[in-house]
Amino acid sequence: MDQTDGSTKLRVLLVEDDEHDRIAFRRAFQRSQLECEVTECIRAEEALERFRADTSSFDIVVIDHKLPGMSGFELCKTLLAQELQLPLVILTGKGSERLAVDALKAGVYDYIVKDPSESYLDLLPVVLSQAVRRHADRIARKRAEEKLLTYHNRLRSLASALSLAEEQERRRIATEVHEHIGQNLAFTKIKLGKVRELASSDSFRNAVDEAIEVIERTIEETRSLVFQVSSPILYELGLVAAVESLTKQTQERHGIPIDFEDDDKSKPLSDDVSVLLFQAVRELLANVVRHAQAKTAEVSVAKKNNEIIVEVKDDGIGFEPAEIGPAMGQDMRFGLFSIRERLESLGGGIKISSRPGHGTRVTLSAPLSP
Ligand SMILES: Nc1ncnc2c1ncn2[C@@H]1O[C@H](COP(=O)(O)OP(=O)(O)OP(=O)(O)O)[C@@H](O)[C@H]1O
Ligand SMILES: [Mg+2]
Repeated sequence: MDQTDGSTKLRVLLVEDDEHDRIAFRRAFQRSQLECEVTECIRAEEALERFRADTSSFDIVVIDHKLPGMSGFELCKTLLAQELQLPLVILTGKGSERLAVDALKAGVYDYIVKDPSESYLDLLPVVLSQAVRRHADRIARKRAEEKLLTYHNRLRSLASALSLAEEQERRRIATEVHEHIGQNLAFTKIKLGKVRELASSDSFRNAVDEAIEVIERTIEETRSLVFQVSSPILYELGLVAAVESLTKQTQERHGIPIDFEDDDKSKPLSDDVSVLLFQAVRELLANVVRHAQAKTAEVSVAKKNNEIIVEVKDDGIGFEPAEIGPAMGQDMRFGLFSIRERLESLGGGIKISSRPGHGTRVTLSAPLSP
């Protein structure tokens, strides 16, 4: 509606060839005392010409179906194809309900039946101003939804980029620890072995033995730390081997028997998908350890159609999956939510089947490389 002078004037384009009906239309607005500016066109072609020049001068278009030349319905279809952001209302004669339904299906906002008693004229002002208001609401909602969708997609990309950046940083730290600390320790151990050979007394030999023992333990701990920070197996042997090794480590460290199964089919994966699935399994196994109180768990990797399916299952206490989401405040829970966002951004998905008292099964899927 035109609000430039503070009033809310309804600007209507009326496409109507019947002069009597045009006059009746204008009178209906005069009677209603609703501020309205009616611009009239007699033919559909004339209306099209107007819209070619300017699309912003009207709030609503009211079109009689029966027009000379192009019909009212044809005009509606042409305007809708041009994605004109205006509500269109079609005026039909009695008995044209079929046409009205077709028009609504095509995207026309509403239809009004011109009854011979002309009582439709009394309703016109209210119906048209309501249509304009509702149409504006609908467009505003659509824009807000589009904006939300854009933010959501950006959030997904951000989550994905963050997790890849985290993995790169983990890998860099793991490589540094392995190459500098790990290798220096190994070198020191060899040198101490040589010193031991030259030892002239038992007490000196014992002291060197103790030092070698400490160094061996530190080498072991360093290796385990490297694996925890970033599994080198993921980059050297691929996802399946890395997940198997992760399963074994979790079992050893936390004492939960975890079965591992692979269908032995070839599963080519992009680096991004590989890294993401590995992180997801690490997250899911952490959940089993932290929340499930499980006696046993199972991890399986399989190929199904053009997807890789990774499943993590436990026989623990289960939970209500509907409650997952990015909990805010003090109780931050991002694990499952962020797996979903990251996987969906790469064309994959997550399915959680769980019920309190009935264990948990989480199924991850992601596309295989062509
Ligand atoms: N295997 C499981 N068994 C039982 N409950 C689970 C299991 N996995 C998840 N849950 C429940 O679902 C909730 C959400 O899990 P999610 O991984 O999203 O967050 P979190 O583990 O609590 O925190 P974060 O992963 O962010 O450190 C958990 O707090 C827990 O209550
Ligand atoms: Mg978690």
